[in-house]
Amino acid sequence: MKNGKSGGVLDRLDNQGATSFYWYLSLLATVGGFLFGYDTADIGSALPFIPYKLSSFAEGYLVAGASIGAAVGAIAAGPLTDRFGRKSLLIIDAAIFAVGAILSAFAVNVEMLLAARTLIGLAIGADSAIATAYICEFAPRDRRGSLSIIQQWMITVGILVSFLVAIIVLRAAPGAAGTVGWRLMLGLGAVPALIGLALRARMPESPRWLMLNGRYGDTRKALGILGMEVTDEEVKATAEQLKEEERRRENVSNWTPGVRRALIVVCVFFIFQQITGINIPFYYGPKLMAGLLQGPHSDAVNSAVAGVQVTAILGAVNVVATFFAFRYIDKLGRRPLALAAYAGMAVFILLAAAGVAFLAGVPQIVVVMIGFALFITCFAIGVGGTGWLIQGEVFPTAVRGRAAAIGASVDWVANFALIQVFPASQQAIGLAGVMVCFAGLSVLAIVFIARFLPETKGLSVEEVIGLFERQAAGKPGTG
Ligand code: BGC
Repeated sequence: MKNGKSGGVLDRLDNQGATSFYWYLSLLATVGGFLFGYDTADIGSALPFIPYKLSSFAEGYLVAGASIGAAVGAIAAGPLTDRFGRKSLLIIDAAIFAVGAILSAFAVNVEMLLAARTLIGLAIGADSAIATAYICEFAPRDRRGSLSIIQQWMITVGILVSFLVAIIVLRAAPGAAGTVGWRLMLGLGAVPALIGLALRARMPESPRWLMLNGRYGDTRKALGILGMEVTDEEVKATAEQLKEEERRRENVSNWTPGVRRALIVVCVFFIFQQITGINIPFYYGPKLMAGLLQGPHSDAVNSAVAGVQVTAILGAVNVVATFFAFRYIDKLGRRPLALAAYAGMAVFILLAAAGVAFLAGVPQIVVVMIGFALFITCFAIGVGGTGWLIQGEVFPTAVRGRAAAIGASVDWVANFALIQVFPASQQAIGLAGVMVCFAGLSVLAIVFIARFLPETKGLSVEEVIGLFERQAAGKPGTG
């Protein structure tokens, strides 16, 4: 697609400057990322105050149900977005997020709350399947990394905001935590969802998806919104070329060896992203820290606030560190950031493990916090956003929705599995033992990335899949 007339319009799109509108559009595409962070973290703070009698199934489902719902939502979104477009699905997701949050706030019994959380889970998953695919389909090639990292940034901001909301709500009206407080924490997610719903209706559909579906007039309009004046003929010529590429691929199968290879790389990257332990400090942080911080006279609200406050510090570190991913992902590339990040994660989780195993009292809290903070910093720089970026950029347009959705779904299943096995593993080998396992898994991740993740910075999305095809055919020089 790079040569001659063929890539004409797309070549120009790939080489556009990223105007403020591009940043705005990426922000809009990642409102779901904010809610992904907010809605996965808010339940940890709200849970102790939900007044219903919760069976252990209901309690487990409230915490982990969003992850399982997300796995299902992601898989469902794949074929739908390839068929109906990226924008339509992003709009529907925002609506589901809003309904889920409002139903949680007004839940009259456990069943209604579980149903609302299921809806939220579905929306989180569907949105996580599509957001970076949408961004990668309009982003200029040398800014695709930074524009996609906004998804990760929004996730981290969502996590932090959920902790801050919990602190404000619990401090402002500690007595109302069990009545209005928890409802507010869960219900406030409706605000960004409604804003997203209103604004997403006016975003342009993905030009690559429109072209592939023969909607040339709409492509011209979408490109116009993206700041490119083109004629119908130019669009048609590029679209023919794009379709030709896809047809050639379909002759073999849509799922060529290169696509399958890319899918395996994305899925394994996502499995490592989860099983190396990032969500332990976030999901279990308030509880673990509340335990460490609990004094003889602290009541439920006070120790919950203390736990959430400490976790919020880690949430803030996560937001700040993501800036470095944003800044360097297109300059240094995906591979060096991911390799260095996993090396750092292995070192710092061991530091935190040493704190847990050999220290007590204040020194223990300090060392554990420093270890966790640096571990999270490394994850934020090279692992979190890199996963969501490659999920959006490595597949061809015709199957991008489905393939990205499978990747997202694998991420959520791994997320769920880790939440499920963590308590039992902690009992069996202790917190420090589990942390040592995370370090070992980070080292394995380094081996995997060094061997299988090619560098994709600066390439067009069409060139990226070519890279995987060549690797799948055993051709060298693909870096
Ligand atoms: C992961 C989430 C995690 C978040 C933390 C994301 O990339 O997919 O599971 O909670 O990063 O920042």
